[in-house]
Amino acid sequence: MPSTSPYEGRILEITNATVYRGDTCVFDGLSFVLDEDRHTAILGPNGAGKSTILKLLAGEVHPVPKEDSTVRLFGEDRWNVWEVRKRLGIVSHDLQHQYMEQVSGLKVVLSGYYASIGTYGHQDFTYAQIVRAHTVMDDLGIGFLTDRRYADMSAGEQRRCLLARALVHGPSVLVLDEPTGGLDLTATFHYLDLMRTYMRKRRTILLVTHHIHEIPPEIKRVVLLKKGKILRDGEKGAVLTEAHLSELFDCPVALAEAHGWYQALPGNSGSQL
Ligand SMILES: Nc1ncnc2c1ncn2[C@@H]1O[C@H](COP(=O)(O)OP(=O)(O)OP(=O)(O)O)[C@@H](O)[C@H]1O
Ligand SMILES: [Mg+2]
Repeated sequence: MPSTSPYEGRILEITNATVYRGDTCVFDGLSFVLDEDRHTAILGPNGAGKSTILKLLAGEVHPVPKEDSTVRLFGEDRWNVWEVRKRLGIVSHDLQHQYMEQVSGLKVVLSGYYASIGTYGHQDFTYAQIVRAHTVMDDLGIGFLTDRRYADMSAGEQRRCLLARALVHGPSVLVLDEPTGGLDLTATFHYLDLMRTYMRKRRTILLVTHHIHEIPPEIKRVVLLKKGKILRDGEKGAVLTEAHLSELFDCPVALAEAHGWYQALPGNSGSQL
């Protein structure tokens, strides 16, 4: 079914953005677009600027104002950050704030309605919101975490809880920052399965990672980001090559592929030992 939305399916359009974080110039003239239904992975080494792109999308960082520079979200140049966040479901490491430690699984999930930062005391939830939170937790197989303190959950359970938090308000775009980092094989496979299920429900996924193995077959577009510059942007098969990945990570990379999944291996196995 073609998109009928007024923004014609363009979720994010960054044009010629210069972005600082502290004293660091992360981007100088970055341009990047994300279209609805075109699941995208941004792949790059540590410090490339991947998480900063997500922060631009969430309105947490802003480019230096310039005449020829824009960040357009859902077709709007001027947008209310809270309205935008309602349309986004974001899972990132930054979410693992200390304030969550003492809070039950259910409350962590409910906080997704507020894209919360801070305490929970003054937040009210409707009966329908609470029912929906239980449903999302059950769907993700974490109904048993409803009353467990966040601090007492395993890393994989915390990740799934944060995914439920990102999904509870029914966002059209799911944004994931290294979702399977720290998970064991079973938990990784389960998480990837959940991602694939949600892609099939016509939610657009933007995945940010340096783990090639967490890019599911459904993600067809891959963007290679290095030191704040886009090296390659296009169809996965053309972008994920040994030559491109070796250039991206500044080391020889060999690539294995099976059933639409990729894995990176050392390109000079053992020769340096
Ligand atoms: N608050 C800050 N002050 C100064 N520099 C910062 C700040 N936050 C981030 N940076 C720098 O900005 C650059 C990009 O950071 P970013 O977090 O976007 O990288 P990344 O690609 O997500 O890396 P990783 O794979 O390690 O998560 C890095 O060099 C980082 O050190
Ligand atoms: Mg990051």
